[in-house]
Formats: sequence, structure tokens, C-alpha cells
Amino acid sequence: MEGFLGGAYLWVKALHIIFVIFWMAGMFMLPRFFAYHVESVAGSDEDALWIEREARLMRIIINPAMMVAWIAGLALVANIGLGAGGGLHAKLLLVLILSGFHAVLSRWRKALAAGDRSRSTRFYRIANEVPALFIILVVILVIVRPF
Ligand code: HEM
Repeated sequence: MEGFLGGAYLWVKALHIIFVIFWMAGMFMLPRFFAYHVESVAGSDEDALWIEREARLMRIIINPAMMVAWIAGLALVANIGLGAGGGLHAKLLLVLILSGFHAVLSRWRKALAAGDRSRSTRFYRIANEVPALFIILVVILVIVRPF
């Protein structure tokens, strides 16, 4: 493979996909945790347990996985060049929006930990589907390359 990554290119792409999977898994789990959390009694032991679980999921899985997915992804971009076609640009736009959703999840987590229960279980169950939509679009872009 041409480019500064040379023989490491496929290893970096494998690392990228592995941490994308960890990142998406966490982005699926967290809204689901929120949905169960708001069904618990405010101030109860179960409430405190969900606050701890959500903080650990964010700190140990979701944040590190996003960082490695981005770093490996940007190394791949630097290797193939941004001129690699419209599909890559469209993908990067979708991934930026997905990263924005990550920030929104982080804000909801802090709000819920501070006692904000203004969003319903149903709201979080719908939010749970957002990553799925982006994964479908991104994978079609990178594998089928429609443009
Ligand atoms: C976080 C920012 C991301 C960046 C900067 C990025 C960038 C890239 C680049 C440059 C490639 C190599 C493309 C090629 O070899 O032609 C790649 C491969 C890939 N990316 Fe990402 N990506 C990101 C996030 C994601 C996400 C969120 C997903 C899935 C939901 C994803 C799925 C894939 C897949 C499946 C491949 C392999 C495609 C192939 O074998 O050609 N990436 N990524």
C-alpha cells in the first residue's frame, strides 16, 4: 500500500474497525441504560447504581474507543488523501454528526446524574436507534462506494 503507513496500513485499518465497533457498542448501550435508569426511584440505591454504571461505560469504553477510532481513521485519511472521492467526504460528515451525538449522550448522562428526569424511557429508547441509522449509511458508503 502506498502512503506513509506502508505495510502497517491494513493493521491500522483493522485497529480502526475494531474500535469503531467498541464505540458503536457503547453508543447503543448508554441510551438503553438511560431508559432503565429513569424507571428507577430518584435518590434510591438503584438510581446511584445506574449513575455509576453510565459514568464507567463512558469513561472506560465509549470515550477511549472514539479517540482510537478517530486517530486511526485520520491516519488512514492522511494515508489515502482527502482526494479519495466524495464517498469519504460524505462519510466524514456523517461521522462528525455521530460524534456530535456522542457529546449529546455525555450531556444527558451528566444531567441525569444531577437528577434531571425530564426525558422519558420512550425518548431514550428512540435515541437508542440513532447509531444504527448512521452505521447503515457509513458502511454502505465505505463498502459499496455508491459515489
Ligand atoms: C471517527 C472518524 C472516522 C474516520 C476519520 C474514518 C476514516 C476512514 C478511512 C480513511 C478509511 C480507509 C478507507 C480506504 O481504505 O479506502 C476507513 C475505513 C473504514 N471505516 Fe472509517 N472512519 C471513521 C469512522 C468510522 C465509523 C464510525 C465507521 C462505522 C460506523 C467506519 C467504518 C469503516 C470501515 C468498515 C472501513 C473499511 C472500509 C474498507 O475496507 O474499504 N469508520 N475509515
